[in-house]
Amino acid sequence: MTEETTALLREIASYRDRDPEDARMLPPEVYLTDELFEFEMEHIFRREWILVGREEQARDPGDYFTTDLLEEPLLIARGADQQLRAFSNICRHRYMRVAEASGNARLFVCPYHKWSYDLEGKLRAAPGMEGNTTFDAKSCRLPEVRVEAWEGFVFVNLDDDAEPLRPKLQSFSDHFREFGIEKWKTIAWYDEVWEGNWKLTCENGLDSYHHMGLHWKTAEPFMPALGTRFAEAHAQWNYHRTPILPEKAREVGMGDDRFFEGLRPDQADALNSTFVYPNVVVGFVPGQSIWLSAIPIDRTHTRIISSYTVPTEFADDAEIRATAESYLRELNTEDAEATWRLQEVLASQRIERGPIGVRERGVYHFYQYLARMLPSPD
Ligand code: FES
Ligand SMILES: [Fe+2]
Repeated sequence: MTEETTALLREIASYRDRDPEDARMLPPEVYLTDELFEFEMEHIFRREWILVGREEQARDPGDYFTTDLLEEPLLIARGADQQLRAFSNICRHRYMRVAEASGNARLFVCPYHKWSYDLEGKLRAAPGMEGNTTFDAKSCRLPEVRVEAWEGFVFVNLDDDAEPLRPKLQSFSDHFREFGIEKWKTIAWYDEVWEGNWKLTCENGLDSYHHMGLHWKTAEPFMPALGTRFAEAHAQWNYHRTPILPEKAREVGMGDDRFFEGLRPDQADALNSTFVYPNVVVGFVPGQSIWLSAIPIDRTHTRIISSYTVPTEFADDAEIRATAESYLRELNTEDAEATWRLQEVLASQRIERGPIGVRERGVYHFYQYLARMLPSPD
């Protein structure tokens, strides 16, 4: 380990018992150092549950979608037995990806030499391989990867020995049970690569104080930044609340009265902006939610998968759908700026670590999480 990385890990570790009043932005080098990035991948992204999609992408038997996490191509599929499974998406013959994109299938047929696998990952046919005496087709299968569905999201874990996800997020589910987000449906998708380090994206997602700057047109008019209050920090997630001004929300087509039915007044009056470690934002107001998962590609590129979800009864409403499509894109385009614009200036010699305000306390808790996960050199 280089001296620089040692110093950075020591600095991150100092957040374990740092007073929140004394919290400052992490040093710019944490976004600039390849070795630290490798540590983050090894200690966080190869061990934690990572959100890769929505359950509705694999709802019926045979439904599947593919994704890449770090260097691992993955195939997520619903079996005939309704079971959700994730596999390594690499053919056991000569390394071709077995499936591409998404769809519905009974068998996955490798495009290279037509070996086929069933929905449980078992090899069903390897045409022309009969003469090979050392190859045991019966035991050949795509290796499984841990997968869990939680609140309508699909998470995978590259660590075979990881603790299950659900208990880690039980407090979240209990807290927001009345919203019933597990059953919400996606009405607009977003999937882009942003320039910038994954942690910049997360810090941005942990902060609604920036409504007044970055989102002065799109969010500030009905979710004013200065009303933001940090709410709760848990081991695996935290959240803050920003008040909703219902009249203003209605003006921009986001304040339908039906959205508020069944919710307690203290739930209906604010944006609940939650952050699930290490990399997921789920922000919801009554009747709509935008989430995103920031998946590192390399130190300066982050894939953002995101969607706009609504309770099932609003999923076919043409007006709501039209708003969702444009709003999701606008908001994410604005947030992308907070990643690439910051990354651009990090090598400056005159940069200084600024304070984290009370409205951004989630950022401090994120740093504490990093301190828990990354090894301390001492
Ligand atoms: S690589 Fe898949 S069949 Fe040959
Ligand atoms: Fe934002």
